[in-house]
Amino acid sequence: MTTQITSLEEYHREYAKSIEDPESFWKKEAETFHWFQPFDEVLKWNFEEPNVKWFLNGKTNITYNALDRHIAERGDKTAILWEPNDPEDTVINLSYKELLEEVCKCANALKKFGIKKGDRVVFYMPMVPELTIGVLACARIGAVHSVVFAGFSAQALSDRVNDAQAKMIICSDFNRRGSKNIPVKKVVDDALEIGCSSIENVLVHKNTGDSISWNSLKDKWWHEELDGQESYCTAEEMDSEDLLFILYTSGSTGKPKGVVHTVGGYMVYTSYSFRNVFQYQENDVYWCTADIGWITGHSYIIYGPLLSGATTVMFEGVPTYPTPARFWQICEKHKVNQFYTAPTAIRALMAYGDHLPAESDLSSIKVLGSVGEPINEEAWHWYDKHIGKGKAPIVDTWWQTETGGILISPLPGITDTKPTYASYPLPGIQTVLVDVEGNELKENNVEGLLCIKHPWPSMIRTTYGDHERCKNVYFSAFKGMYFTGDGARKDDEGRIRVIGRVDDVINVSGHRMGTAEVENAINEHPAVVESAIVGYPHDIKGQGIYAFVITQGVAKDDTTRKEILEVVKREIGPIAKPDKIQFVNGLPKTRSGKIMRRILRKIASNEADSLGDISTLLNPECVKEVIDGNRTLI
Ligand code: WT7
Repeated sequence: MTTQITSLEEYHREYAKSIEDPESFWKKEAETFHWFQPFDEVLKWNFEEPNVKWFLNGKTNITYNALDRHIAERGDKTAILWEPNDPEDTVINLSYKELLEEVCKCANALKKFGIKKGDRVVFYMPMVPELTIGVLACARIGAVHSVVFAGFSAQALSDRVNDAQAKMIICSDFNRRGSKNIPVKKVVDDALEIGCSSIENVLVHKNTGDSISWNSLKDKWWHEELDGQESYCTAEEMDSEDLLFILYTSGSTGKPKGVVHTVGGYMVYTSYSFRNVFQYQENDVYWCTADIGWITGHSYIIYGPLLSGATTVMFEGVPTYPTPARFWQICEKHKVNQFYTAPTAIRALMAYGDHLPAESDLSSIKVLGSVGEPINEEAWHWYDKHIGKGKAPIVDTWWQTETGGILISPLPGITDTKPTYASYPLPGIQTVLVDVEGNELKENNVEGLLCIKHPWPSMIRTTYGDHERCKNVYFSAFKGMYFTGDGARKDDEGRIRVIGRVDDVINVSGHRMGTAEVENAINEHPAVVESAIVGYPHDIKGQGIYAFVITQGVAKDDTTRKEILEVVKREIGPIAKPDKIQFVNGLPKTRSGKIMRRILRKIASNEADSLGDISTLLNPECVKEVIDGNRTLI
């Protein structure tokens, strides 16, 4: 197992070692894994192309390390503890032995379909054990998984399938979400209808058993295909730098990009960060509430915990079903020791009152985690007091889809915590703040742009099919550095507080949304001439989506608003629907014709009094109308 730091002194020592000699530091951690063939070089890199390679020529398989390796010592230990949507339904405990068997059966079934190393498989599934089994089955045979969050629309799904040129989609018939069953297979059918010519088969897991339409040429049942498969499948020997998965995420321009992670580095870092940030002990029960459709689920429901031999809880349902006390009831029911969720969930549940968590026994909780967006002071204190009872340290973990794992976080019980501060970089992580010219701001008590100046094992390798984009987005802003897109401040003792995005990306309930992407969707409405999206402060979601829209030939009323929302739902999914739509006649622009989002952001945030100088605009006269319209919008 990777090193687990247990004291402040050790954290300082390990951090210092990791900076002085990163290669020896990571060599030691990597050597705790099983390699079919040892690596012969730790790291080769430059941030110009960029070209980053870890554990060169090493051959391994991440599922061998997440499953087979544990069988002797903890084969009967629960690997996945699955809590169903309906609390009355049966909990599933899959031991490491059973999980390995299921993964192997699925891997053999995939092989029968002709899926081989390097092929891409897209998942569009609810939070059921079969999702984890399928993902690991891909990794077992070297196929590249790409999980698409099952809230995305058919259009968004087909965009991702086509970008990845996937051979297969694995889905369920229906998803259970609270009191509703959601037709997932139907969305896959619609995506295929839009056009996914690379797809040869759709493997369908029978989840609810509700009726679905069936294409006997392509569609196959999961249970029929896995039935009778051998319960062992040899793990494919993967090069450390072979692709493990692609995960699509939004950027400030264009369509979502496929962030690529590779086998060796991702394996080493997700395990290392999991063991340290959550201080996992052998008999603990760990629960991360994220969906596997996002990076948090990949790294800290599946890979980090399983690589560390942990018991990881997987929850099918939603926080408010059948009651808004559900999270706390699950913590009591399974005696959860580490609980990891998002500020948006904390804020939403906080609103139901303090009595709800008080009705459950939360005494098992040792560590509380927060992820996805800045956690505000009020939510931090509520989480601390009512869930942690003042004795479970909060780890405010900062990271990104691109970083693969947590880069900045307190270590519970080891380093201190401070509300709203992600605090300290993990060993191996060389964070820096820079000014707009790229000068490093070395002193404390400063605000700047957050960059990382040395590679870490689980960093993004490329954006799938478009390496230039990876270079331009992350490595071109500041020479020799990875730019995160976030602004941050250091307090007078050097703790880091991540403030938020400085680019045209907004963070809605911890989900990343590109403003351009939402604008493109809105512009699909035939009456929309132009639109501009900005984020504005939202009590529960962190940021809400505010749309300024110019239309022609239609009434500026709720009917048109509804139509626009439908278009966004169709193009991306319900999570991208604007919270507010304001009809305008003009959008403030620079002389070169660029929309001045800064001004719109202020107006949407009720800060129109501090707009500053607008006289240099191309069309300053439109600003008053936009402000007045905002004030009358309910
Ligand atoms: C963006 C990454 C990391 C998994 C979930 C989101 C914001 C993330 C924090 C935090 C302040 C945070 C950043 C980052 N963010 N964690 N603890 N404090 N901001 O992954 O969708 O790739 O989004 O989320 O702005 O850049 P993602």
